Amino acid sequence: MVSSIKKVIVVGSGIAALSFASSISENCQVIMMTKKQFSSSNSMLAQGGIAAPFSPHDSIHQHVQDTLAAGCDHNDERTVQEIVSLGKQLVEQLVAEGCPFDQTEAGVPQLGKEGAHTTPRILHAGGDQTGKTLVQYLKNQLGSHIHLYEYHHVIDLLVHEGACIGVVWKDEKGNVHTMTADAVVLSTGGCGSLYETSTNDSSVTGDGLMMAYRAGAQLADLEFVQFHPTLLTIAGKAVGLVSEAVRGEGAYLEDETGRRIMKGVHPQADLAPRDVVARAIFHEQQLGHGLYLNIREIPHFSVRFPAIDEMCQRAGVDMASGRLPVSPGMHFLMGGICVNEYGETTVPSLFAIGEAACTGLHGANRLASNSLLEGLVLGHKAALRMEQLSIQKNTVSSCTFQEVWSVPAMSKDQLRQWMTTYAAIVRDEKGLQILLQTLQEVPCQQINVKIITNEELELSNQWALAIRLVKSALLRTESRGGHYRMDYPKRNDDLWRGKQIVHEKGRIYVMKNERIGAKWNVYS
Ligand code: SIN
Repeated sequence: MVSSIKKVIVVGSGIAALSFASSISENCQVIMMTKKQFSSSNSMLAQGGIAAPFSPHDSIHQHVQDTLAAGCDHNDERTVQEIVSLGKQLVEQLVAEGCPFDQTEAGVPQLGKEGAHTTPRILHAGGDQTGKTLVQYLKNQLGSHIHLYEYHHVIDLLVHEGACIGVVWKDEKGNVHTMTADAVVLSTGGCGSLYETSTNDSSVTGDGLMMAYRAGAQLADLEFVQFHPTLLTIAGKAVGLVSEAVRGEGAYLEDETGRRIMKGVHPQADLAPRDVVARAIFHEQQLGHGLYLNIREIPHFSVRFPAIDEMCQRAGVDMASGRLPVSPGMHFLMGGICVNEYGETTVPSLFAIGEAACTGLHGANRLASNSLLEGLVLGHKAALRMEQLSIQKNTVSSCTFQEVWSVPAMSKDQLRQWMTTYAAIVRDEKGLQILLQTLQEVPCQQINVKIITNEELELSNQWALAIRLVKSALLRTESRGGHYRMDYPKRNDDLWRGKQIVHEKGRIYVMKNERIGAKWNVYS
């Protein structure tokens, strides 16, 4: 039986989920489920903006080139081209509709600069509250065919004859439910909470990746983890993000003596790609130096960056000193669930969008402000694709799901400490081997789905994902972007160019991806 109204479950509530929901027509009923509050997403925390080549001195070609350079030639160039050009159109549409981006006195979007961009091309909103502004704007566009449910914790996917047919979820009381659908869209973010310091919302625990994996989807590029160079750090504890836009406005990194640490390290100095800056800070910290962001040259800091200013004041920073103590923290996972240009995974009727997906846009290191852009584009394209699909209504009356979960006997903090020690900014074989063995040897408790807590479910996913991430990091015997091996400090194109490390159905393998590094030359 073919019905014209499709039922789609979207898991997550960030920009990609909202872009999907605001693009899809009333031919679909959309159930959006999020495990905490609607506002618990990385998008809400995104200070830096959305990149789009708006300036007359800029072009799609240049934005593509900057994305490829930051991505260390591990990007899928056709995807980069498609996302940058469609992204520009979608951002133009938002501006034309009245989405409140910051403007110049002439009434055009104000463009900022961030790391590894050769020209100003970052649109901001609310100064340093771009993600929150976009999320609220898109939420206000949603029609009555979008139904939003908070505290609906999706824990697994229902799979029948290899296709995704719905989700298993827990309510606030811990009761287990199932819900079938014609398709499921995962927009669950990456895995920031695998590390001790992170810019991510605490709810981002890799659940979507592991659900997709259990359903049979491919995970790729897990070794490429981006650390943001500047988290405000007080007494060794990260307090929150200090946007790269602050360096874009003229701030620079210095040590306790005022020595500028990025001078001579990279031609773009303080605005070098994030992996380069994060490693330089890590190196200085290893030598015992304190690291500061000098903001003295930024006029009207509290007006330009109101949320960061407030965070600093709350944390007791002496703003008159013009120096913010900073250190790097986990920010973004370049890898994720393998998808095509519409967000379709290798499992029929299962989509992934946003940071949960691996589209090939970011390569080995994401260019600043390309993630809101990717979320906007992929959510939109997935919605268009969903409209086109003729879906055979499934007639499955009941289906089984994982009843017993393996939960490692350790705390999330312990896992974070191990990941931070051995699999963070700088890695080597010895440390990764110790970590892998440690993770694999942790005894596990078998817990029934009816009594397992949300905390235990998250830990189970984090642990299983950490093992896969570490295996990938061990296998890639080179350094590229967000994956730096002290024992293989150089890029090895002969061995690794265009190759992805993939996890699928209990196997790990190296896949030659013909689209990575291929030249398309279709710029407009
Ligand atoms: C930032 O504001 O520095 C973060 C923006 C991004 O990650 O793209």
